[in-house]
This record gives sequence, structure tokens and C-alpha cells, in this order.
Amino acid sequence: MKKILFYHPENQGLAKIISKKMKIPLGRFSSRSFPDGETYLRVESSCKGMDVILVASLDQPDSKLVSLLFLSETLKSLGAKSVGLVAPYLAYMRQDRVFKKGEGITARYFAKLLSSYFDWLITIDPHLHRIHSLKEIYSIPAASIHATSLIASWLKTRKNSFLVGPDSESEQWVSEVGRLACLPYVTLSKKRLGDKNVKIKMPDMEKWKNHVPVLVDDIISSARTMIETVTQLKKWGFKPPVCIGVHGVFAGNAHRDLKKSGAGLVITCNTIPHMTNKIDVSPVLCDSITRFLSSK
Ligand code: R5P
Repeated sequence: MKKILFYHPENQGLAKIISKKMKIPLGRFSSRSFPDGETYLRVESSCKGMDVILVASLDQPDSKLVSLLFLSETLKSLGAKSVGLVAPYLAYMRQDRVFKKGEGITARYFAKLLSSYFDWLITIDPHLHRIHSLKEIYSIPAASIHATSLIASWLKTRKNSFLVGPDSESEQWVSEVGRLACLPYVTLSKKRLGDKNVKIKMPDMEKWKNHVPVLVDDIISSARTMIETVTQLKKWGFKPPVCIGVHGVFAGNAHRDLKKSGAGLVITCNTIPHMTNKIDVSPVLCDSITRFLSSK
């Protein structure tokens, strides 16, 4: 079956790597806003009878969603056999329960929306916490793949390090990276008091004193989690910690603030384009796309 790969303009870099590695041609579409703010969209490549792969990371989801949903529908109206979404970063996974009376579980609503427009979904390290599997909320085939082996490879030469997971949720990533990179790890406990206000509880760190701390977390958004951890590690007298995030959302001045707090190297995967991207996720995405399309 013929395949074609479309992408959100922001994900051109990653899409081109995947297209080249998998020898899948790139599709073209144009879009713009009408004067009233509505979205105009036109597909310029033939997709009749083809399996379409759409690469679009879902950071800043609200501003991207309408055009992505319209693109999927337009491709289907033009005869695409299937339209699958490769969203290296999957949004809305953190509102996974009602925290305060009156709230909704937007992780579920977002999943319902994507499930009704796409035929399948591949994403990297979604924030699975109280929701344990994408199957619980997505009604389409949905694969959650991991960047842990790629992060571990990047760490292979940093033998004198120890890994720090800033909260209990990070244990799933930090323990696996630690196992693969043969590095010890500790996890801390965190209490979130507001969007930009977190408290981190750190145990006695004396025994790690001769090591370089490497923070590993899935998302760096406001960066407050990492900033608070870096600040406490500094008080213990550690060297500037390396900070690794799978997804560098970096809301507002988060990157600048993290560097100012005393972080050393700040490293992210290229799931969201950013100057900190040092770990390429295309190998695991290509494997997963191949498996998905061959099992259809
Ligand atoms: C939540 O528990 C996640 O694993 C991250 O720790 C969190 O999203 C980081 O957010 P922020 O950078 O805003 O502290």
C-alpha cells in the first residue's frame, strides 16, 4: 500500500528525517487564516488510496487542533485509506482526574476528540500516571513508545553521574534510564501548590556527594519542578546538574529561568523543536510506524 507523510510546519525537521529513513514521500498542504480567524486549508498532493502519516507534535494544542482535524477530514474526503497521527508529544495527559470540584478530566475529552478524527496514534512517553495505558482513554489503536533507551545511550559516557527523578511519577523513566545506562537513581517527592509553585522534598544526599546529578523528567513545562530541584541540589553543594526532559515544552521564560537557577546542560528530545534538542527520537518512531502499518 502506498504511503505519504504530511506534517505540521513546526515539525518539518523531524518529519523530513522520518520521510528519508522510511522512504515515504512528503505530502504538501497549505493553510492560512481567513480575516475572521477561521482556518482555510488545501491539500496539494494526491493521497487517494494511500495510508497517510501525519507528524504533528501537540504542544500548544489549542492553536493547532482545528487545522489538524480539518486536515485529517480533508485527506479522507480525498480518498486517503487511513490517516494516522504521529504526535511525538501528546498534550492534555496531566489533567487525568478531577482535582477540584467542577473540573473535567480533559485527558479523556482530548482522547475522544483525536479518536474520532484519526485511525491510529503513536506518541512518545505520554504522561501516564493515574491513567495507566492509552487504551483506557483512546478508542483507536494507540502506541506509547519510549525515549528511555535513547536517553540512556546519551548518558553512556557519563559514568560518574547519578540520576534524580524529581517526583514519584518520574520513577518510571528514571528507573528505566538508570537500568539501561547502569547508573544509580533516587526519586524525590513533590507537592504542586500551583502552576508555577512546587515544593520538593529531598532525602539525605550525602552519599552522592562525589557524583554529578542528572535530573530526568518527562515534561519540562514551567520548569519549576527542575528549578526547585536544582536549587536544593545547589544547597547540598553539587556541581551544576544536567537536566534532561523528554519533552521540552518550556512555557514562557522557562528555559532561561532554568539556566539562571544554576542548571548545567539542559537536554531534550526532538519531540518538540527547541534549541535544547540533542536526542533524536526518529529511530523509535520509524520502528513503531513500520510495525503499525504492517500490522494493519
Ligand atoms: C508532572 O508530574 C510531570 O512529570 C512533570 O514533572 C511536570 O509536568 C513538570 O512541570 P513544570 O515544568 O511546570 O514543573
